[in-house]
Amino acid sequence: MTLSTDDIEKAAGLLKSGELVAFPTETVYGLGGNALSDDAVARIYEAKGRPSFNPLIVHMSSLSEVDSYALLNDQAVALANAFWPGPLTLVLKRNHDCRLSLLVSAGLDTVAVRIPAHPVAQSLLTAAKLPIAAPSANRSGRISPTQASHVQEELADKVAMILDGGSCVVGIESTVLDLSGDMPVILRPGSITKTQLSDVIGTLKAAEHHSDIRGPGMLESHYAPSKPLRLNATDIKSGEALLAFSSPVKGAQCVENLSDSGDLREAAANLFRMLRKLDASRAQSIAVMPIPEEGLGIAINDRLKRAAAPRN
Ligand code: TXA
Ligand code: MG
Repeated sequence: MTLSTDDIEKAAGLLKSGELVAFPTETVYGLGGNALSDDAVARIYEAKGRPSFNPLIVHMSSLSEVDSYALLNDQAVALANAFWPGPLTLVLKRNHDCRLSLLVSAGLDTVAVRIPAHPVAQSLLTAAKLPIAAPSANRSGRISPTQASHVQEELADKVAMILDGGSCVVGIESTVLDLSGDMPVILRPGSITKTQLSDVIGTLKAAEHHSDIRGPGMLESHYAPSKPLRLNATDIKSGEALLAFSSPVKGAQCVENLSDSGDLREAAANLFRMLRKLDASRAQSIAVMPIPEEGLGIAINDRLKRAAAPRN
C-alpha cells in the first residue's frame, strides 16, 4: 500500500500521454484523466459508461492554478482559504481563455474544481503538472469506491493504473457549491456542511430536491446553441450548417465533422467545441447527421436531443 516515487512518476507519465489513472482522494477514489485533453476526458465518460455527459470535477494543486482557469470571486477565495485542500468542490465561471476541455464542463460556461487533501492525490497533481479531471471511479449507477479493490472490481480493464492509497477517510463525495450565480447554492451535500459554509460566506441555499445532478439537462444554466438543431439529417436544407459524422452529406457551406472515421470517442471529444463553432457561424440552423446509439453515442445523442428540444 505504500506508494513509491516511481509509482507516482509512472502514473503522472500515463496521464501526460492521455491514459486514465485511478487515484485516492480523501473522499472517494477518482478516475483521472488530463483535463486539458478532450480525448482523455472522452475516455473517462467511455470508461464510466455514462448515458449522458455529467460535468466532471477538475482537481488542481494550488489556488494560483485554479485562478489560471476560473474566475475566483471573494467568496471563492474565502472558502478556499477555509477548506482547501479538502472535500469542497466549487463551481466557478470558466475564464475567457480557459484551456480546460469543454467536455469537463459538459458544454457549460462553468467548471467544478477542488484541491484534494490526500497526499497521493497531491503528489500526483504535482508530478503530472496538469489539472486532473476525475469523477468517482465507479461505473455509472454504482456506488463510489473508497478502496483500490473497489476500483479494481469495476474498472480494472479501463484504467492504465490504479494507485492504491488505502481506504478513503471521508468516504463520501465532496460537497459541491455553485458560486457561479447570484446566490451560492449547494448542489450536492457532502462532509462540509451548510453551516460550515455559511460561517464563512453568509447566506446560501441548498438545491431544492437533490442527491446528485444526474445530467447537465437538469442544470438551469445549461449551454444550449442559439440556432435550432435538426437531428438525424440525411440531407441539407437551405441555410443549414452541418454537424457531420463520418462521411458528410453534401450541400452545406459550413461543416464540422465530429469524426471522419466514425469514431465515437473522437466525436465526443469534438462535440461541444464544434457545436459552439457552428452556432457562431452565419447559418440559420444546424443539421446533425445520425450518430449510432451505442457506447459514447448514447451520451452524444442525449446531449443533442436536449440541445434540439424546444426552449422556453
Ligand atoms: O469527492 C468527490 O467529489 C469525488 C472525488 C474523486 O473528487 N468526485 C466526484 O465526481 O464525486 P463526480 O463526477 O462523481 O461528481 C461530480 C458532481 C456531479 O454531481 C456533477 O453534476 C457536479 O459535481 N458538477 C460538476 N461540474 C459541474 C458544473 N460545472 N456545474 C454544476 N455541477 C457540476
Ligand atoms: Mg459519482
